[in-house]
Amino acid sequence: MEIVIVGAGVIGLATAWRAAAGGAAVTLVDPSPMSGASSVAAGMLAPVGELTYGEEPLLRLGLASRDRYGAFVAELEELTGLDTGYRTDGLVQVAFDADDLRYLDDLRRFQESLGLPAEALTGRECRRAEPMLAPGVRGGLLAPRDGSIDPRRLGTALLAAAERFGARLVRRRAARIVVDGGAATGVGLDDGTVIRADRVLLAAGPWSADLEGLPPGTVPPVRPVKGQVIRLRTRVPFLRRTVRGLVKGSPVYLVPRADGEVVIGATQEELGFDTRVTAGGLWELLRDARELVPGVTELEFVEVTAGLRPGSPDNAPVMGPTALPGLIAGTGHFRNGILLTPVSADILSAMLLDGPVPEIAGLFSPDRFSAEVQA
Ligand code: GLY
Repeated sequence: MEIVIVGAGVIGLATAWRAAAGGAAVTLVDPSPMSGASSVAAGMLAPVGELTYGEEPLLRLGLASRDRYGAFVAELEELTGLDTGYRTDGLVQVAFDADDLRYLDDLRRFQESLGLPAEALTGRECRRAEPMLAPGVRGGLLAPRDGSIDPRRLGTALLAAAERFGARLVRRRAARIVVDGGAATGVGLDDGTVIRADRVLLAAGPWSADLEGLPPGTVPPVRPVKGQVIRLRTRVPFLRRTVRGLVKGSPVYLVPRADGEVVIGATQEELGFDTRVTAGGLWELLRDARELVPGVTELEFVEVTAGLRPGSPDNAPVMGPTALPGLIAGTGHFRNGILLTPVSADILSAMLLDGPVPEIAGLFSPDRFSAEVQA
């Protein structure tokens, strides 16, 4: 089985690893692996902490992926000898004012209605859990099984694992899908080279439909949703676990790493393919982060980046065969690409290799969108 994967973010890389380990000859095509949303993401593994009303199928997929994460990381780290910064120390969600607390109370009831353990914390309990929290924090919720990972370390390890099983990386842009006899039979690169394949996986985030030769409506519309993210560094103990908060209705999160990095995210902006970092975006993040964790202003500044999340019409991933035989979609992971990496790799590699596909994949098929909404 010859497989071409367009896009070497975490979804493409993890699927390449699994498909190559399953015996396929895999070629990854990307001019700059891990240069999109995967390298900007903070790496929260928070299906409970990031739960949103109306997205129960996504919650189920997120829980399935979180349950796979421990074994996935253990296998990856053992294979490559590389650390991924994986943590399972929970997430505390905190409220800045009385309205924010009311929202968290509603969220706790919603979590409980779904059978999720939700521990309500008073303001004092929040500060006992996280001493750097501001004295005025009203209360919160603890999601004890949520966690985080360093997406950049994860990407490095996934590429090493894929290469260990013989996957080949071609650092060029995929320009077109090659179609013969009504089926995808390869990918044409920007230098005119053609790579033939039995199966093609589109895992290029919001650029997944950006290829010549795709029949109209083949790939559901995936839009770019910009997120600006700040990276800081501390040399002294700071946060014990991920803190996610609401400040006058505005969400912000701080993700600490064992190496001292603290990632603050993220804005959510619908501005097309715009990756400019703006003064307003940074100000909002720092303003809200400081309200919750005043000491954040003492940390060393490291980096600011903006990435484009791939958002589908229902905010859930698009994974499965498209209307073009031989072409499989693996995109639309929106705010959850890092969390959904293990389960997506299992689903997509099974589809590519004709193996048994986890049943939950049926909820995320590209054909769930009607013809009217397809590009
Ligand atoms: N899941 C975090 C974000 O997309 O900002």
